[in-house]
Amino acid sequence: MLIKFDFNNMMESSIGDQGIKESDIEAVKDKAKDAYQYFEQNRGKGWMEWSELPYNQENVVRDIIYEAAEIRAKYKNFVVLGIGGSALGPMAVFNALCHLKYNDLEEKKRGVKFYVEDNVDPERMYALLDVIDPKETVFNVITKSGATSETMSQYLIITDILKKKCGEEWAKHIIATTSENKGNLIKLAKKEGFKTYFIPEGVGGRFSELCPVGLLPAAVLGIDIISLLRGASEIDKACNSSDPYKNPALMAATLQFIAMNKGKNISVMMPYADSLKLMADWYCQLWGESLGKAADLQGNIVHAGQTPVKALGVTDQHSQVQLYTEGPFDKVITLIGVKNFRKDIEIAQGVEEFPDVNFLCGHTMGELINTEREATEYALTRSKHMNNTILLDSVNANTIGQLMMFFQLETAYVGKMLNIDTFNQPGVEEGKNATYAMFNRKGYEAKKAELDAAPKKNAKYII
Ligand code: PA5
Repeated sequence: MLIKFDFNNMMESSIGDQGIKESDIEAVKDKAKDAYQYFEQNRGKGWMEWSELPYNQENVVRDIIYEAAEIRAKYKNFVVLGIGGSALGPMAVFNALCHLKYNDLEEKKRGVKFYVEDNVDPERMYALLDVIDPKETVFNVITKSGATSETMSQYLIITDILKKKCGEEWAKHIIATTSENKGNLIKLAKKEGFKTYFIPEGVGGRFSELCPVGLLPAAVLGIDIISLLRGASEIDKACNSSDPYKNPALMAATLQFIAMNKGKNISVMMPYADSLKLMADWYCQLWGESLGKAADLQGNIVHAGQTPVKALGVTDQHSQVQLYTEGPFDKVITLIGVKNFRKDIEIAQGVEEFPDVNFLCGHTMGELINTEREATEYALTRSKHMNNTILLDSVNANTIGQLMMFFQLETAYVGKMLNIDTFNQPGVEEGKNATYAMFNRKGYEAKKAELDAAPKKNAKYII
């Protein structure tokens, strides 16, 4: 069953003059059509290779499923070393499709333990080493560039430990997922003989979950990666129209584009399911890194973008929702609802004498969370704040594939409508290059000189 996009509460008919008129959609119809056509014409080309991932990976999927079974049979832990687009997808899919306390389950009820290490906090590295035995662990080093300082420093620490603990066998504990032709990791992989998976050249980090970056970790966790890809292809085919009313991702993009022009600078992603909590993190990177651009395609300074914010229903009803209902009209709030939870639990009887609590008894937690979602939707709408809902029938590999592809399509369409380069990340590169310069990396002398010449901090402002 396909996910549903309900945009009633983006519209003037629901939220009055804060809302979007059908004539507003009509006014940008040509831009939307152009975005759709551009996408279709460039499918599978340049930085849009990700659009073909649901269709062109038969051999690699077969290999991954085989390799995953071997890993599950031989090892106790699977650790991803990666950051950004090389970590957020695997984390989101793990959280969505595995038991919510997966690593705490007893061994026979789960597969290998799973960790994603996406930071260079030394305490975190020690904590990992406290709970895994490297001899029983496979480390999946994921970096497309093969140059990212965070991932390569983790790689160096772990390979040093493996060499000491596993002797000649150490290289069997590393799987490299990287570019086939560029970067250091592929060179190291060839030298050391690591098992290797390739990230296609035209697949950027934040669009890479449906290639081996995400497929190998998912398969190791026993997730049905064929269904994941099939879900992505199903929504892709359902978005096969240049008319926003017939293409849900294009409608979502069109509405966000109009909303941005109306000063809605914030996009809140608020799933009402713990299993989708990290999907909001993944979305934040996709939306933020893709759309936050200083210049448009002609080089004009535009400072485009919409700040993505993650929230969790119902938890953040008791934290953020006060602001969302009564604060500035600067947000679009996207709720994600799940109709049928994989498990539900009845709220027991026991307080007949307290009507203030008793009204809950006999209902289920699933009913409660969904009723609260609808109640929040009502409160947001009543206070005239733009909101929309993406509804999943249930959380499974197919609907997760759909959801991720939906957001990727939406992002690509909006990027085109904004006339920016959706697929680069000069702001991220700037930080990476500054780190290289501060560590005196060869080739970064000019950047070092630039940093040295930058104005120094004023001690007066540090108190
Ligand atoms: O989306 C992106 O391209 C980035 O977030 C990258 O994924 C991130 O910087 C990690 O890069 P790499 O995979 O080259 O280590």
